[in-house]
Amino acid sequence: MNGFLRITGAASLSPRHNSACRHDIRILSGIRPDTIVSTGSNSTDMADLAHINGNFIPLESAVVSVNDRGYTFADGIYEVIATRNGQPFLLPEHFRRLERSAEGIGLRLPANYADWPKIIAGGIERAGFAETMVYIQLTRGVMPRRHVAIEDLEPQLVITFRPRPTFTAAQLAAGQRVITVEEIRWRRCWIKSTALLPNVMMKQEAARAGCDEAIFVDRDGEVHEGTSSNIFFAAGGTLVTPPLGDYLLPGISRRFILDRAAATGLPVDVRRCNRDELLAADEVFLSSTTMDAMPVVEIDRHRVGDGKPGPLTRRVRELFPE
Ligand SMILES: Cc1ncc(COP(=O)(O)O)c(C=O)c1O
Repeated sequence: MNGFLRITGAASLSPRHNSACRHDIRILSGIRPDTIVSTGSNSTDMADLAHINGNFIPLESAVVSVNDRGYTFADGIYEVIATRNGQPFLLPEHFRRLERSAEGIGLRLPANYADWPKIIAGGIERAGFAETMVYIQLTRGVMPRRHVAIEDLEPQLVITFRPRPTFTAAQLAAGQRVITVEEIRWRRCWIKSTALLPNVMMKQEAARAGCDEAIFVDRDGEVHEGTSSNIFFAAGGTLVTPPLGDYLLPGISRRFILDRAAATGLPVDVRRCNRDELLAADEVFLSSTTMDAMPVVEIDRHRVGDGKPGPLTRRVRELFPE
């Protein structure tokens, strides 16, 4: 195994992954147990799967080189795609964002890019989960550690297939609690880069505070997004969300909500907003591929609205197909 880095399901809580599991529990200590999302991976006949270097293998035996620039420099991009009724949801939109991210870091897409939908469909079928979470990671490639990359380095693709996380009715009814944190990220947050250290650090801070998510707010109080979600609020019956820009990942769920909300006559307003408006909002929710629309019931220990998920958030959740 020397010289290789084992890819484990980092958030896997499945007892099947004993060593990964112990590791995860250590990392997750300090996080309220009820904030851990179920991956539904309780089946014994299905295994998390990886597609790596053209082969499908069990995720727990998948390895990459320690010289992968994704490991040494976080020199890579990724996408997370959920299936609905067994089909990847909004796949073209995810591919478009991936292409933009690749362009953003000057990464050429591999020659087999056109085959990825087929690889993904094959992986979903092989994995055999009721619903799958597909994770695509593309790094600049493998070479001895040096900042300047070798020209024509072959990008390294890893695709993993794991059960799609689910939220119980109780978790949705309870909603989530968030903190606001200082925006400390770079000005190209529209690139879905694997360099997520600020996001990880702030999510850890939220966890230590007994909360679920941290919302990046700049020094002027302008609200950007969560560490792994976009944010919306409802004020006077209108849905408000910050505009795209340097400090926002163009969330696929955000776009879906905006399009569907407008189509169903729900007033939406995409504009810059500040922390005070968030605190005064009737409702607040987070959007992401993992959560769809997740109610927020508390911000920096202040109750949102009446402290319960509101009707607009429910309406938005219902915009998503089963
Ligand atoms: C920083 C950040 N913003 C927003 C999102 C939501 O994006 P999407 O709806 O495409 O999952 C994510 C998802 O991981 C994220 O990491």
